[in-house]
Amino acid sequence: MSTLVIVGAQWGDEAKGKLVDVLGGQADVVVRYAGGNNAGHTVIADGKTYKFQLIPAGILHTDTVSILGSGMVICPEGLLQELARTRAQKSELGTLYISSAAHVVFPYHRILDGLEEGMRGDNKIGTTSRGIGPAYQDKVSRTGIRMGEFVRPEMSRARLQEQLTYKNRLIELLGGQPFDFETLHAEYAAYAEELRPFVVDTEPMVQKAVADGHKVLFEGAQGTFLDLDSGTYPFVTSSHPVAGGACLGTGVGPRAIRNILGVAKAYTTRVGSGPFPTEQDNSVGEQIRAQGQEYGTVTGRGRRCGWLDLVALKHACRLNSLSGLVMTRLDVLANVGDLQLATSYAGRDGFPANVWDLAEVQPEYVTLPGWTEDLRGCRHWNDLPATVQQYLEFIEEYTETPVAVISIGPDRTETIVKRPELIWA
Ligand code: GDP
Ligand code: IMO
Ligand code: MG
Repeated sequence: MSTLVIVGAQWGDEAKGKLVDVLGGQADVVVRYAGGNNAGHTVIADGKTYKFQLIPAGILHTDTVSILGSGMVICPEGLLQELARTRAQKSELGTLYISSAAHVVFPYHRILDGLEEGMRGDNKIGTTSRGIGPAYQDKVSRTGIRMGEFVRPEMSRARLQEQLTYKNRLIELLGGQPFDFETLHAEYAAYAEELRPFVVDTEPMVQKAVADGHKVLFEGAQGTFLDLDSGTYPFVTSSHPVAGGACLGTGVGPRAIRNILGVAKAYTTRVGSGPFPTEQDNSVGEQIRAQGQEYGTVTGRGRRCGWLDLVALKHACRLNSLSGLVMTRLDVLANVGDLQLATSYAGRDGFPANVWDLAEVQPEYVTLPGWTEDLRGCRHWNDLPATVQQYLEFIEEYTETPVAVISIGPDRTETIVKRPELIWA
């Protein structure tokens, strides 16, 4: 069995997309297991910058099959635009399939996302406004429309009508503008027509690939602390980004998973609201934001920046049963000065489950020497300055999790594989 999960070990944007692109070339199948176009995965390869939101980053490899898994919620319009954009950038792409069990995001979900945020007062989540929460609400309510149904005209018209009647009432109640059914139906029936050839029952395909010993990569979106159950609820997304979500969102059981790599930045960022113990709302945070160009791919919002939180990272290692860590963006910390790493929260043991307790914690730091060298030319462990090696070894020791891969720049080539045995079995 040769399977690998790539999971975000912090609050998203850890550079999962880059890793999936780097390792996807070795994979037979890449399957994304959660989220929708709230994700933004940037890949820089062969001098081009690709921005993926729904399409797995494996698509750039022509011999790799890419799948949008059953755990996803899919905006048809967004997907078609993304396909057109990617095809314009690269003529030869891998084969793409969409799970018939993935849910469809409609414009009423986006409207409701905004209206619900408006109702939250001081406790706004700061969502990406892509309708993700309302689409997953429909899934849980057992009223959602799935891709398999969406591409069957005789079913989808009646289901959309039934849904829109209810959603329009809700939208009006919350002060929004209702949708005209015929206009919406005509637009979405055209999208369904275009997407029909891609929609299949992908779960048996993934199961067979695993059973045949093919290399299957499970691509995560968002991050551990945005997980609906394990994250900083209610400041989370509505799906399961954690490694366990790879089973739920693709149709395989836990025994099908071999290796799990957690991707983490050498520091921490967060977009949207919610507690962030090591946040540096000061010149250090500003320097990291400027050097790292920390602005959201989807919304363009400045990301909140802070020191590496090892209490949180160790918790993420456990929540995902990580085989190894992928530490990214070490280059960004150059010239920041001495570096602080949170190793405990005062008077507490571990990471609190309750978000309001997390909001109160006082991180306690260890200080390690920083570096001034440009790391982007490094290709081997021995090329890294001793200060960087010490930083990484401290992380390994504290989290009791080996560092498997190190990223020192956004390009495909700016990658150091330290422990290849932790990637594919
Ligand atoms: P994802 O959502 O986890 O896929 O991450 P994003 O793509 O949203 O954000 C990561 C950003 O960092 C992207 O713009 C990448 O091109 C960039 N990136 C990836 N690895 C590195 C790295 O090691 N150093 C630097 N400076 N940038 C990186
Ligand atoms: P990638 O895959 C960072 C955050 C939003 C908000 C919360 C809920 O690029 O790492 P939602 O629209 O999902 O209901 O918003 O989750 N969020 C992300 N933050 N990276 C992401 O994805 C995110 N996807 C959602 O900012 O705080
Ligand atoms: Mg992102």
